[in-house]
Amino acid sequence: MKGPVACAVIPVGGLGTRFLPATKAVPKEMLPVVDKPLIQYAVEEALAAGIERVVIVTGRGKSAIEDHFDHAVELERALADRANGAALAAVRKSVLPPGAIAYTRQQEPRGLGHAVWCARDLVGDQPFAVLLPDDMVLADTPCLAQMLEAYQGVGGNLAAVMDVPREHTARYGVLDVGADDGKLAEVKGLVEKPAPDDAPSTLSIIGRYILQPQIFDKLEAQSAGAGGEIQLTDAMAQLIGEQPFHGFRFAGTRYDCGDKVGFIEATLAYALSRDDLSNATRDVLRKLAPPG
Ligand code: G1P
Repeated sequence: MKGPVACAVIPVGGLGTRFLPATKAVPKEMLPVVDKPLIQYAVEEALAAGIERVVIVTGRGKSAIEDHFDHAVELERALADRANGAALAAVRKSVLPPGAIAYTRQQEPRGLGHAVWCARDLVGDQPFAVLLPDDMVLADTPCLAQMLEAYQGVGGNLAAVMDVPREHTARYGVLDVGADDGKLAEVKGLVEKPAPDDAPSTLSIIGRYILQPQIFDKLEAQSAGAGGEIQLTDAMAQLIGEQPFHGFRFAGTRYDCGDKVGFIEATLAYALSRDDLSNATRDVLRKLAPPG
């Protein structure tokens, strides 16, 4: 159960209600952190980890995402005519090789598990990665690449995890932890969005997974769970005992772009991490929020 991971699934079906009205006509995943949409960070993280094919599970109103990863012929011609090489390179960077990106629609918002299940025929009978674009991880080695390295050792299923404040467990899938070496934590159980008092630990899943294809059979049979939705966490829990399953503590900082303040924090952190923007961003921060 250590087959190569060549395919990544990126679900983008959500309505983005927390960012209305910005997300009325623009998919949430197209909101930019500095100068790149959230979805492009996820795709680039997948490609940096050696992923060859990306399956995006979309929904109505998300067609801007397909355009984003395609050529923009008139724009490219105009930039070439103006000899604006930097802008042209930025535009072309989001064009993937032919056939490397596929789209399928989740026709109803029935939950993350259902969205992943919608990708089953495009993934096929092979291990695959899942990336949730709302979760950004700023790291020296991209989070998925770290996970794939760990996967070479333990195989099976992996979910990226981090400790969260106990009062936040109801936002996450939470692990019941077995043997734990500080990096990899054996998963004994999984609960989706438990109340703080019911949470088996504070070690919580953030949106990066490596899964074996047997998850699709579990998802097929999965009934609705937390929030009345088909939960990926519930289907993953069914694999425990049948296949290796570990939580992976990644190195890096995670930003929750599903939340307004998290999004602002991500924007500042990514700007501060860039040579071309860090000094100016620091100046702005000092001006807006002087120390003391
Ligand atoms: C989803 C998963 C949850 C996970 C979280 C990470 O929840 O269901 O297990 O902890 O992503 O961001 P959502 O944020 O879609 O409610």
